[in-house]
Amino acid sequence: MTENKTVLAWLEEMKAMCQPDNVVWIDGSEEQLEALRAEAVETGEMIKLNQEKLPGCYYHRTAENDVARVEDRTFICTPTEEEAGPINNWMAPDEMYAKLKKLYTGSMKGRTMYVIPYSMGPIGSPFSKIGIELSDSIYVVLNMAIMTRIGQKVLDQLGNDENAEFIKCLHAKKDVNPDDRYIVQFPQDNTIWSINSAYGGNVLLGKKCFALRIASYLGKNQGWMAEHMLILGLENPQGEVKYICAAFPSACGKTNLAMLIPPEYLKNKGYKVWTVGDDISWLNIGPDGRLYAINPEAGFFGVAPGTSVKTNFNALESTKKNTIFTNVALNNADNTVWWEGLDKNPPVDATEWKGSKVNGPEYSAAGNNLAHPNSRFTAPAINCPCISSEFENPQGVPVEAIVFGGRRAKCAPLVYQSRDWQHGTFVGATMASETTAAAAGAVGVVRRDPMAMKPFVGYNMATYWGHWLEMGKKLGDKAPKIFHVNWFRKDDEGHFMWPGFGDNMRVLLWILNRCAGKVDAVESEIGYLPKPEDIDLTGLEDENVDIKGLLTIDKQVWLEDVANIEEYFAQFGDKLPKEMADELAKLKANLSK
Ligand code: GTP
Ligand code: MN
Ligand code: MN
Repeated sequence: MTENKTVLAWLEEMKAMCQPDNVVWIDGSEEQLEALRAEAVETGEMIKLNQEKLPGCYYHRTAENDVARVEDRTFICTPTEEEAGPINNWMAPDEMYAKLKKLYTGSMKGRTMYVIPYSMGPIGSPFSKIGIELSDSIYVVLNMAIMTRIGQKVLDQLGNDENAEFIKCLHAKKDVNPDDRYIVQFPQDNTIWSINSAYGGNVLLGKKCFALRIASYLGKNQGWMAEHMLILGLENPQGEVKYICAAFPSACGKTNLAMLIPPEYLKNKGYKVWTVGDDISWLNIGPDGRLYAINPEAGFFGVAPGTSVKTNFNALESTKKNTIFTNVALNNADNTVWWEGLDKNPPVDATEWKGSKVNGPEYSAAGNNLAHPNSRFTAPAINCPCISSEFENPQGVPVEAIVFGGRRAKCAPLVYQSRDWQHGTFVGATMASETTAAAAGAVGVVRRDPMAMKPFVGYNMATYWGHWLEMGKKLGDKAPKIFHVNWFRKDDEGHFMWPGFGDNMRVLLWILNRCAGKVDAVESEIGYLPKPEDIDLTGLEDENVDIKGLLTIDKQVWLEDVANIEEYFAQFGDKLPKEMADELAKLKANLSK
């Protein structure tokens, strides 16, 4: 399928090490994929679901010890430890290659190695990048076919230039032994090696491993950015669409916000939301000097539990055809799927995620989960009812605003705007999210998660902040404005103060009004706050929403956070950009006045 000598030489080397019985090139044709689906059903690797209710949908169950990303088994192997930075696991590349070669040797004996050429981003876009994943798992092939663009057309795009850039990805399922599980990035070698897992986040190497870890490193060297951000387009009643990127840590609502359905009052006025991406954004400076975003993915790898008609209608609709479900529960009555939060009625004749037949309501009432809490759907983006017409635009969409956010019970207000790009970078760098407190009133544990990239930055986090500052200098006055939101503020009884979900649209409108210079703000210790009357609350279900309370700053709580940030920054030593230390000092001084 290709005559590219670099590709072929690498393939020979990997074949000699893994020793598969066969090698199959994935050409991207529907016939080939359909044959693989049939084979996976035959061997029991997948179950074919009810084809009338869920056409083209399949079910897969992973090993019980293999259900999530494994941060403690994830490594960034740069030549020096300092380059990987204090918050990544590191091992010297030579040492890691030697260790893994032993594990890979003969690992595909009796198995087939699939060669999956894939593109992150629309094929042929100047901002897209190519990868080739070698894997011995049909599940990986079929998921990659949904999450990325695959096949012959990708190899054609790569061409025969021996120096053409592509990311070399190797995955062997091996014996799924958690003690020998490794998810390893070698940024200097454009290489990713994953072994002893068959779970999505660890084995779909185009996603977190390439599109975030390797890409963030490439971006630093090539002058662009790879970020853990959704991309949405907000259309106003005049039909103009403005684009917003938002970075929230995992499980903090990116997929929800990306597919937001506006409240009735705004819908009736003619406002709409269009989804460009729900998880990853690649940001480049366009010919006009503005920042443009593409979604490198072609599908959604979303958490199933909690997804319902009420919480995320558009995500649920996206899973109605050509979707792979992993570790959810089966409803045996009609061979469909179920998960906690889909509705209140667990199926009576159910198979829970580990594979035992159970009485759903009884099993559930005894406190068990039918679906694994991290069970997932892999759904094609084109299934989404609100997919943006710009989804395939090779130039990407111009970004008006960048929004950071996390779960903060007491600290961050509903929304505020940074003073400028440098301050905005500081706001992102000091992002944090709290684990939900079990006891009422107890303060959650703060986990700092800069730019929502803690598990995904492919080099030293402090150097990454430096890259953000560089990008700001290049963008100058064309830089997007940077904001911070908090949908999760709680009152003294521990209740969420803001209704969230569709009503978050009201906050997005303030953000866009600020970008357009249509509304003033109040300068505060931490940045610009909205005047309460500038957030349109018309038609809110709960008329008692305490908007003033949502916008107040508790200086004592903030000073405690400053102390936590000082400690956090200290681990980066003299790598910490001076600008970040200056911003921290300024914040402290403002709060101490
Ligand atoms: P990854 O895909 O893992 O990166 O995470 P994500 O950011 O896409 O998170 P996801 O959308 O899966 O997180 C959903 C969680 O956030 C669910 O528990 C939702 O109930 C909750 N959530 C989303 N939006 C809101 C909101 O506006 N308010 C509140 N209170 N909860 C929300
Ligand atoms: Mn998501
Ligand atoms: Mn994510």
